[in-house]
Amino acid sequence: MARTIDIKADRQAALEAACAALADGFAIAIPTETVYGLAADATNPAAITRIYETKGRPRFNPLICHMADLAMAEEHAEFDPVSRALATAFWPGPLTLVLPLKPDSPIHLLATAGLDSVGIRVPKGFAGALIGAFGRPLAAPSANTSGGISATSAAHVEADLGTKIPLILDAGASAVGVESTIVKVEDGQLRLLRPGGLAAREIERVAGKPLLRAKTASAAIEAPGMLASHYAPGASVRLNVTAVEPGEALIAFGSAAVSGADGARIILDLSPHGDLAEAATNLFDYMKRADASGASSIAFSPIPEEGLGEAINDRLQRAAAPRD
Ligand code: TXA
Ligand code: MG
Repeated sequence: MARTIDIKADRQAALEAACAALADGFAIAIPTETVYGLAADATNPAAITRIYETKGRPRFNPLICHMADLAMAEEHAEFDPVSRALATAFWPGPLTLVLPLKPDSPIHLLATAGLDSVGIRVPKGFAGALIGAFGRPLAAPSANTSGGISATSAAHVEADLGTKIPLILDAGASAVGVESTIVKVEDGQLRLLRPGGLAAREIERVAGKPLLRAKTASAAIEAPGMLASHYAPGASVRLNVTAVEPGEALIAFGSAAVSGADGARIILDLSPHGDLAEAATNLFDYMKRADASGASSIAFSPIPEEGLGEAINDRLQRAAAPRD
Protein backbone atom coordinates (compact mmCIF):
# COMPACT_ATOMS: atom_id res chain seq x y z
CA MET A 1 0.00 0.00 0.00
CA ALA A 2 1.20 3.45 -0.84
CA ARG A 3 1.77 5.98 1.92
CA THR A 4 0.11 9.29 1.00
CA ILE A 5 1.53 12.57 2.25
CA ASP A 6 -0.45 15.80 1.89
CA ILE A 7 2.17 18.35 0.85
CA LYS A 8 0.02 21.23 2.05
CA ALA A 9 -0.04 19.73 5.54
CA ASP A 10 3.65 18.83 5.73
CA ARG A 11 5.79 19.96 2.82
CA GLN A 12 9.08 19.19 4.55
CA ALA A 13 8.04 15.63 5.40
CA ALA A 14 6.92 15.17 1.79
CA LEU A 15 10.26 16.41 0.44
CA GLU A 16 12.28 14.22 2.78
CA ALA A 17 10.24 11.06 2.19
CA ALA A 18 10.32 11.63 -1.57
CA CYS A 19 14.08 12.21 -1.71
CA ALA A 20 14.69 9.08 0.37
CA ALA A 21 12.44 6.90 -1.82
CA LEU A 22 13.99 8.28 -5.03
CA ALA A 23 17.53 7.69 -3.70
CA ASP A 24 16.51 4.09 -2.95
CA GLY A 25 15.49 3.66 -6.60
CA PHE A 26 11.71 3.66 -6.15
CA ALA A 27 9.14 5.14 -8.51
CA ILE A 28 6.76 7.45 -6.62
CA ALA A 29 3.73 9.57 -7.55
CA ILE A 30 4.30 13.32 -7.55
CA PRO A 31 1.95 16.20 -8.31
CA THR A 32 2.68 18.44 -11.30
CA GLU A 33 0.57 21.24 -12.71
CA THR A 34 -0.41 19.08 -15.72
CA VAL A 35 -1.12 15.59 -14.36
CA TYR A 36 0.33 13.42 -11.57
CA GLY A 37 3.66 11.88 -12.57
CA LEU A 38 5.21 8.50 -11.74
CA ALA A 39 8.72 9.74 -11.03
CA ALA A 40 12.08 8.02 -10.69
CA ASP A 41 15.76 8.96 -10.86
CA ALA A 42 16.45 9.42 -14.59
CA THR A 43 20.08 8.33 -14.12
CA ASN A 44 19.26 5.01 -12.40
CA PRO A 45 18.35 2.14 -14.76
CA ALA A 46 16.73 -0.02 -12.05
CA ALA A 47 14.54 2.91 -11.00
CA ILE A 48 13.49 3.63 -14.60
CA THR A 49 12.67 -0.05 -15.07
CA ARG A 50 10.29 0.27 -12.12
CA ILE A 51 8.37 3.00 -13.99
CA TYR A 52 7.92 0.79 -17.05
CA GLU A 53 6.91 -2.21 -14.94
CA THR A 54 4.48 -0.27 -12.75
CA LYS A 55 2.71 1.25 -15.76
CA GLY A 56 2.99 -1.78 -18.05
CA ARG A 57 4.45 0.68 -20.57
CA PRO A 58 6.15 -0.37 -23.82
CA ARG A 59 9.90 0.17 -23.46
CA PHE A 60 10.40 1.78 -26.85
CA ASN A 61 8.53 4.75 -25.48
CA PRO A 62 10.92 7.44 -24.14
CA LEU A 63 10.11 9.30 -20.93
CA ILE A 64 10.08 13.03 -20.29
CA CYS A 65 12.94 14.07 -17.99
CA HIS A 66 11.94 16.74 -15.49
CA MET A 67 14.43 19.37 -14.37
CA ALA A 68 14.50 21.90 -11.52
CA ASP A 69 15.25 24.84 -13.83
CA LEU A 70 16.79 25.89 -17.15
CA ALA A 71 20.32 25.75 -15.70
CA MET A 72 19.87 22.07 -14.82
CA ALA A 73 18.34 21.39 -18.26
CA GLU A 74 21.40 22.96 -19.95
CA GLU A 75 23.62 20.41 -18.19
CA HIS A 76 21.85 17.63 -20.07
CA ALA A 77 20.77 19.02 -23.46
CA GLU A 78 21.94 21.37 -26.22
CA PHE A 79 19.66 24.41 -26.58
CA ASP A 80 19.18 26.20 -29.91
CA PRO A 81 18.09 29.85 -29.68
CA VAL A 82 14.38 29.18 -30.34
CA SER A 83 14.20 26.42 -27.73
CA ARG A 84 15.96 28.64 -25.22
CA ALA A 85 13.51 31.46 -25.89
CA LEU A 86 10.59 29.07 -25.34
CA ALA A 87 12.14 27.70 -22.14
CA THR A 88 12.70 31.20 -20.83
CA ALA A 89 9.13 32.24 -21.61
CA PHE A 90 7.27 29.15 -20.41
CA TRP A 91 9.32 27.31 -17.76
CA PRO A 92 8.29 26.37 -15.19
CA GLY A 93 5.18 25.30 -17.04
CA PRO A 94 3.39 22.79 -19.29
CA LEU A 95 5.93 22.77 -22.15
CA THR A 96 8.27 19.88 -23.06
CA LEU A 97 11.17 20.52 -25.44
CA VAL A 98 12.80 17.67 -27.37
CA LEU A 99 16.50 18.54 -27.62
CA PRO A 100 19.80 16.87 -28.50
CA LEU A 101 21.08 14.94 -25.47
CA LYS A 102 24.58 15.95 -24.36
CA PRO A 103 26.89 12.94 -24.74
CA ASP A 104 28.16 13.29 -21.17
CA SER A 105 24.67 13.52 -19.60
CA PRO A 106 24.15 10.84 -16.93
CA ILE A 107 20.51 10.39 -18.03
CA HIS A 108 20.21 6.67 -18.67
CA LEU A 109 19.31 5.35 -22.12
CA LEU A 110 16.33 3.51 -20.65
CA ALA A 111 14.78 6.95 -20.08
CA THR A 112 15.45 8.16 -23.63
CA ALA A 113 14.72 4.74 -25.19
CA GLY A 114 18.20 4.95 -26.69
CA LEU A 115 17.45 8.09 -28.75
CA ASP A 116 20.10 10.80 -29.08
CA SER A 117 17.46 13.34 -28.04
CA VAL A 118 15.71 13.93 -24.73
CA GLY A 119 12.30 15.35 -23.84
CA ILE A 120 12.75 17.91 -21.05
CA ARG A 121 10.39 19.99 -19.00
CA VAL A 122 10.54 22.09 -15.83
CA PRO A 123 7.34 21.54 -13.83
CA LYS A 124 5.74 24.20 -11.66
CA GLY A 125 5.44 24.11 -7.90
CA PHE A 126 6.34 21.26 -5.58
CA ALA A 127 7.78 19.00 -8.32
CA GLY A 128 10.37 21.63 -9.28
CA ALA A 129 11.38 22.08 -5.64
CA LEU A 130 11.64 18.31 -5.19
CA ILE A 131 13.97 17.95 -8.20
CA GLY A 132 16.12 20.80 -6.87
CA ALA A 133 16.36 19.04 -3.49
CA PHE A 134 17.05 15.65 -5.06
CA GLY A 135 19.66 17.14 -7.38
CA ARG A 136 19.07 14.87 -10.39
CA PRO A 137 16.48 14.83 -13.20
CA LEU A 138 13.33 12.77 -12.71
CA ALA A 139 11.87 10.67 -15.48
CA ALA A 140 8.10 10.89 -15.09
CA PRO A 141 5.26 9.74 -17.31
CA SER A 142 1.70 10.18 -16.12
CA ALA A 143 0.93 8.11 -13.00
CA ASN A 144 -1.52 5.65 -14.53
CA THR A 145 -1.53 2.21 -16.12
CA SER A 146 -0.34 2.47 -19.72
CA GLY A 147 -3.20 3.14 -22.15
CA GLY A 148 -5.57 4.28 -19.40
CA ILE A 149 -6.84 7.67 -18.32
CA SER A 150 -4.18 9.98 -16.82
CA ALA A 151 -4.35 10.79 -13.09
CA THR A 152 -5.19 14.34 -12.04
CA SER A 153 -5.61 13.66 -8.31
CA ALA A 154 -3.90 11.59 -5.63
CA ALA A 155 -7.11 9.54 -5.35
CA HIS A 156 -6.87 8.60 -9.06
CA VAL A 157 -3.29 7.41 -8.48
CA GLU A 158 -4.24 5.47 -5.35
CA ALA A 159 -7.08 3.68 -7.14
CA ASP A 160 -4.90 2.68 -10.10
CA LEU A 161 -1.37 2.15 -8.73
CA GLY A 162 -1.77 2.29 -4.93
CA THR A 163 -0.71 -1.34 -4.39
CA LYS A 164 2.35 -1.01 -6.63
CA ILE A 165 4.18 2.08 -5.35
CA PRO A 166 5.44 3.11 -1.90
CA LEU A 167 4.56 6.82 -1.89
CA ILE A 168 1.99 9.28 -3.27
CA LEU A 169 2.45 13.00 -2.70
CA ASP A 170 -0.93 14.75 -2.66
CA ALA A 171 -1.22 18.39 -3.78
CA GLY A 172 -4.92 18.32 -4.69
CA ALA A 173 -6.31 18.44 -8.20
CA SER A 174 -3.85 19.19 -11.05
CA ALA A 175 -4.30 22.80 -12.19
CA VAL A 176 -3.94 22.24 -15.96
CA GLY A 177 -5.40 18.76 -16.28
CA VAL A 178 -3.81 17.58 -19.56
CA GLU A 179 -0.17 16.67 -20.22
CA SER A 180 2.44 19.16 -21.42
CA THR A 181 2.71 20.34 -25.01
CA ILE A 182 5.72 18.67 -26.71
CA VAL A 183 7.70 20.69 -29.26
CA LYS A 184 10.87 19.97 -31.24
CA VAL A 185 13.00 22.43 -33.20
CA GLU A 186 14.44 20.75 -36.27
CA ASP A 187 16.25 22.38 -39.19
CA GLY A 188 15.00 25.73 -37.94
CA GLN A 189 11.39 24.50 -38.04
CA LEU A 190 9.16 24.15 -35.02
CA ARG A 191 7.21 20.90 -34.83
CA LEU A 192 4.30 20.06 -32.53
CA LEU A 193 4.79 16.44 -31.37
CA ARG A 194 1.89 16.47 -28.89
CA PRO A 195 -0.70 19.18 -28.23
CA GLY A 196 -1.05 19.81 -24.50
CA GLY A 197 -1.51 22.22 -21.66
CA LEU A 198 0.21 25.16 -23.36
CA ALA A 199 -1.82 26.42 -26.33
CA ALA A 200 -0.04 26.30 -29.71
CA ARG A 201 -0.69 29.97 -30.39
CA GLU A 202 1.22 30.97 -27.22
CA ILE A 203 4.25 29.07 -28.50
CA GLU A 204 3.95 30.59 -31.98
CA ARG A 205 3.76 34.06 -30.47
CA VAL A 206 7.08 33.66 -28.65
CA ALA A 207 8.85 31.69 -31.40
CA GLY A 208 7.66 34.07 -34.11
CA LYS A 209 7.04 31.13 -36.45
CA PRO A 210 4.30 28.57 -37.09
CA LEU A 211 4.13 25.26 -35.24
CA LEU A 212 4.02 22.48 -37.81
CA ARG A 213 1.57 19.69 -36.97
CA ALA A 214 2.43 16.03 -37.58
CA LYS A 215 0.68 15.13 -40.82
CA THR A 216 0.89 11.37 -40.90
CA ALA A 217 0.58 8.49 -38.45
CA SER A 218 4.25 7.62 -39.01
CA ALA A 219 5.27 11.17 -38.11
CA ALA A 220 3.39 10.69 -34.85
CA ILE A 221 5.63 7.72 -33.98
CA GLU A 222 8.30 10.35 -33.43
CA ALA A 223 6.62 10.89 -30.08
CA PRO A 224 5.94 7.21 -29.51
CA GLY A 225 3.54 7.86 -26.63
CA MET A 226 1.24 9.07 -29.33
CA LEU A 227 -0.07 5.56 -30.04
CA ALA A 228 -3.55 5.64 -31.48
CA SER A 229 -5.46 4.11 -28.58
CA HIS A 230 -4.69 5.83 -25.29
CA TYR A 231 -6.58 7.48 -22.43
CA ALA A 232 -9.11 4.68 -22.89
CA PRO A 233 -11.97 4.32 -20.40
CA GLY A 234 -13.71 0.95 -19.98
CA ALA A 235 -16.77 2.27 -21.82
CA SER A 236 -16.77 2.95 -25.55
CA VAL A 237 -16.55 6.59 -26.61
CA ARG A 238 -18.58 8.63 -29.15
CA LEU A 239 -17.43 12.11 -30.14
CA ASN A 240 -19.13 15.27 -31.46
CA VAL A 241 -22.49 14.03 -30.25
CA THR A 242 -25.61 16.19 -30.46
CA ALA A 243 -28.06 13.39 -29.58
CA VAL A 244 -27.43 11.03 -26.67
CA GLU A 245 -28.68 7.42 -26.58
CA PRO A 246 -30.73 6.21 -23.59
CA GLY A 247 -28.42 5.05 -20.78
CA GLU A 248 -25.31 6.66 -22.22
CA ALA A 249 -23.11 8.90 -20.07
CA LEU A 250 -23.01 12.44 -21.47
CA ILE A 251 -19.98 14.69 -21.13
CA ALA A 252 -21.13 18.07 -22.37
CA PHE A 253 -19.37 21.38 -22.96
CA GLY A 254 -20.57 24.95 -22.74
CA SER A 255 -24.14 24.00 -21.72
CA ALA A 256 -24.69 22.80 -25.29
CA ALA A 257 -28.18 21.50 -26.01
CA VAL A 258 -28.10 17.71 -26.49
CA SER A 259 -31.24 15.89 -27.50
CA GLY A 260 -32.10 12.83 -25.42
CA ALA A 261 -30.19 14.24 -22.43
CA ASP A 262 -33.15 13.33 -20.19
CA GLY A 263 -32.38 9.66 -20.75
CA ALA A 264 -28.65 9.93 -20.03
CA ARG A 265 -27.29 7.86 -17.14
CA ILE A 266 -25.16 10.77 -15.93
CA ILE A 267 -24.53 14.28 -17.30
CA LEU A 268 -21.28 16.14 -16.63
CA ASP A 269 -20.44 19.50 -18.22
CA LEU A 270 -16.70 20.10 -18.71
CA SER A 271 -17.30 23.85 -18.51
CA PRO A 272 -20.85 25.23 -18.44
CA HIS A 273 -19.47 28.65 -19.45
CA GLY A 274 -17.46 27.25 -22.35
CA ASP A 275 -13.99 27.87 -20.85
CA LEU A 276 -11.50 25.48 -22.49
CA ALA A 277 -8.93 25.74 -19.67
CA GLU A 278 -11.60 24.71 -17.16
CA ALA A 279 -12.65 21.89 -19.49
CA ALA A 280 -9.03 20.61 -19.65
CA THR A 281 -8.85 20.60 -15.85
CA ASN A 282 -12.00 18.50 -15.57
CA LEU A 283 -11.45 16.19 -18.57
CA PHE A 284 -9.80 13.09 -17.07
CA ASP A 285 -11.76 13.22 -13.81
CA TYR A 286 -15.06 13.40 -15.69
CA MET A 287 -14.02 10.55 -17.97
CA LYS A 288 -13.35 8.42 -14.89
CA ARG A 289 -16.67 9.43 -13.31
CA ALA A 290 -18.60 8.69 -16.49
CA ASP A 291 -16.87 5.32 -16.70
CA ALA A 292 -17.66 4.56 -13.06
CA SER A 293 -21.36 5.31 -13.68
CA GLY A 294 -21.60 1.91 -15.36
CA ALA A 295 -22.65 3.31 -18.74
CA SER A 296 -21.39 1.17 -21.61
CA SER A 297 -20.85 4.24 -23.78
CA ILE A 298 -19.72 7.82 -23.13
CA ALA A 299 -20.98 10.55 -25.49
CA PHE A 300 -19.01 13.81 -25.78
CA SER A 301 -20.38 17.13 -27.02
CA PRO A 302 -18.23 18.88 -29.67
CA ILE A 303 -15.23 20.80 -28.28
CA PRO A 304 -13.92 23.82 -30.26
CA GLU A 305 -10.50 23.13 -31.84
CA GLU A 306 -8.88 26.30 -30.48
CA GLY A 307 -6.58 27.05 -27.53
CA LEU A 308 -6.54 24.08 -25.16
CA GLY A 309 -9.33 22.53 -27.25
CA GLU A 310 -6.62 21.12 -29.54
CA ALA A 311 -5.18 19.06 -26.66
CA ILE A 312 -8.64 18.03 -25.41
CA ASN A 313 -9.69 16.84 -28.87
CA ASP A 314 -6.38 14.98 -29.27
CA ARG A 315 -7.03 13.06 -26.04
CA LEU A 316 -10.66 12.38 -26.99
CA GLN A 317 -9.69 11.01 -30.41
CA ARG A 318 -7.28 8.61 -28.72
CA ALA A 319 -9.92 7.64 -26.14
CA ALA A 320 -12.28 6.85 -29.03
CA ALA A 321 -9.71 5.02 -31.18
CA PRO A 322 -10.16 1.30 -31.90
CA ARG A 323 -8.38 -0.81 -29.27
CA ASP A 324 -6.32 -3.87 -30.00
O1 TXA B 1 2.65 16.78 -18.55
C1 TXA B 1 3.46 15.88 -18.83
O2 TXA B 1 4.23 15.95 -19.78
C2 TXA B 1 3.48 14.65 -17.90
C3 TXA B 1 3.80 15.11 -16.48
C4 TXA B 1 3.92 13.94 -15.51
O3 TXA B 1 4.96 15.89 -16.48
N1 TXA B 1 4.46 13.72 -18.36
C5 TXA B 1 4.29 12.98 -19.46
O4 TXA B 1 5.39 12.21 -19.69
O5 TXA B 1 3.30 12.98 -20.16
P1 TXA B 1 5.48 11.01 -20.66
O6 TXA B 1 6.81 10.41 -20.34
O7 TXA B 1 4.30 10.10 -20.60
O8 TXA B 1 5.49 11.73 -22.03
C6 TXA B 1 6.21 11.11 -22.97
C7 TXA B 1 5.94 11.69 -24.28
C8 TXA B 1 5.77 10.54 -25.20
O9 TXA B 1 4.88 10.83 -26.25
C9 TXA B 1 7.18 10.36 -25.69
O10 TXA B 1 7.22 9.63 -26.82
C10 TXA B 1 7.60 11.82 -25.85
O11 TXA B 1 7.10 12.42 -24.68
N2 TXA B 1 9.06 11.93 -25.83
C11 TXA B 1 9.88 11.80 -24.78
N3 TXA B 1 11.15 11.89 -25.18
C12 TXA B 1 11.13 12.08 -26.51
C13 TXA B 1 12.12 12.22 -27.52
N4 TXA B 1 13.42 12.18 -27.23
N5 TXA B 1 11.72 12.41 -28.80
C14 TXA B 1 10.40 12.45 -29.10
N6 TXA B 1 9.43 12.28 -28.19
C15 TXA B 1 9.78 12.11 -26.93
MG1 MG C 1 0.38 9.20 -20.08
